[in-house]
Amino acid sequence: MIDARGLAIGYRGGPTVLTDVTFSVMPGERVGVLGPNGGGKTTLMRALLGELESRAGTFTIEGRQGTVPQTERSRLDYPVSALDVVLMGALGRGPWWRRPGRAERALAQAALERVGLEDRARETFGELSGGQRQRVLVARALMQDADIVLFDEPFTGLDTPSAARLTALIDALAAEGRSVLVSTHDVGQARAWDHVLCLNGRMIEFGPPEHVLTETVLAETYEHAVIRIPDGWPRGVTQSAGASARA
Ligand SMILES: Nc1ncnc2c1ncn2[C@@H]1O[C@H](COP(=O)(O)OP(=O)(O)O)[C@@H](O)[C@H]1O
Ligand SMILES: [Mg+2]
Repeated sequence: MIDARGLAIGYRGGPTVLTDVTFSVMPGERVGVLGPNGGGKTTLMRALLGELESRAGTFTIEGRQGTVPQTERSRLDYPVSALDVVLMGALGRGPWWRRPGRAERALAQAALERVGLEDRARETFGELSGGQRQRVLVARALMQDADIVLFDEPFTGLDTPSAARLTALIDALAAEGRSVLVSTHDVGQARAWDHVLCLNGRMIEFGPPEHVLTETVLAETYEHAVIRIPDGWPRGVTQSAGASARA
């Protein structure tokens, strides 16, 4: 589905911010993307979406991509309903001049049902909780029938029940043969997925969690800001200096 070799990525007119990215993702795999703030998680996702050019290396992507971007409050002032957001996933399916019709609306409603939000279709997207917004965006990816779903820090700010729901949805997407990339600050969570990709300005390591989630790799990824918990597994990490720690 995705195969990247020696990628280097930068922003237009700026320096290269991420180098040495080599990894591959097969259908049905869940990949956790770890890294400190500014480590390059969003940059990698934007490059995979074709928004940024690679400056070195090669990558191939097979299949349709869907994205669940970080939902910032500041961007939520549009008076669009949850159903409208899901319907945006239908753009690109038909000719651009055709407005979504009854068939698309039925598909969008079905997608909302899959994420457990069938009764929220008419609510304003921006007024939903963080967890509900994430699920609406998952429904949009379902509407796109995405083969690859990219989640950028979807768990940030979610309470435990919402996070559990989202984890179950991610598992379900993968079980259907979709590839899922999820950036997270929760090392313990990444441990349950198929592969882990560690970034800190460059790719530190990629592989199955049992190979990647070692003290050495995590220390390099987070520059020694790893928090320990009693079961011996590094669980959370401190964000950049001064920011609060998440566990
Ligand atoms: N739009 C942008 N233009 C230029 N540099 C950027 C832009 N967005 C991010 N960067 C830089 O790219 C690096 C990686 O950032 P980012 O991918 O956002 O990290 P993360 O998502 O892991 O927190 C940082 O050094 C950041 O300053
Ligand atoms: Mg980011």
